[in-house]
Amino acid sequence: TVFDCSIIQVAKVHSKSGNITVLENGSNIPFDIKRIYYLYDIPGGESRGGHAHYELEQYVIAASGSFNVILDDGVSKKNVALNRPDYALHIVPGLWRELKNFSSGAICLVMASHKYDENDYVRDYSVFKKLK
Ligand code: TYD
Repeated sequence: TVFDCSIIQVAKVHSKSGNITVLENGSNIPFDIKRIYYLYDIPGGESRGGHAHYELEQYVIAASGSFNVILDDGVSKKNVALNRPDYALHIVPGLWRELKNFSSGAICLVMASHKYDENDYVRDYSVFKKLK
């Protein structure tokens, strides 16, 4: 459910010349990262997502700028604001998600538990509701 999704504060190595935040398999992420992708150059007013996954688990990070992630388990919805590069939203499998309200220059960085597989997507909301 949406209540299984949490925001994780990832450690920050701070210095006067800037910050580093690290995600490392087997140490501070609950699945092994098989794929990394990032969304950028998102035009104002656009939304992304609009699908669920059967198996895929993700960490979503606002590497730059801000946006909102709306999670939906078919019963409850949760709206999460991401706006800091050291916070990761853990999205568990089986949830409908939409990404909205991207700020100008936003970068949405995603760590994924599986390689890209179109068969893992549910892209029709009525199909998603029936599965639930
Ligand atoms: P999609 O996951 O629907 O994007 P979003 O959820 O951000 O709106 O993917 C959009 C397109 O990009 C789709 O045609 C498939 C392609 N794509 C890949 O080829 N590999 C990937 O790892 C991802 C995430 C998308």
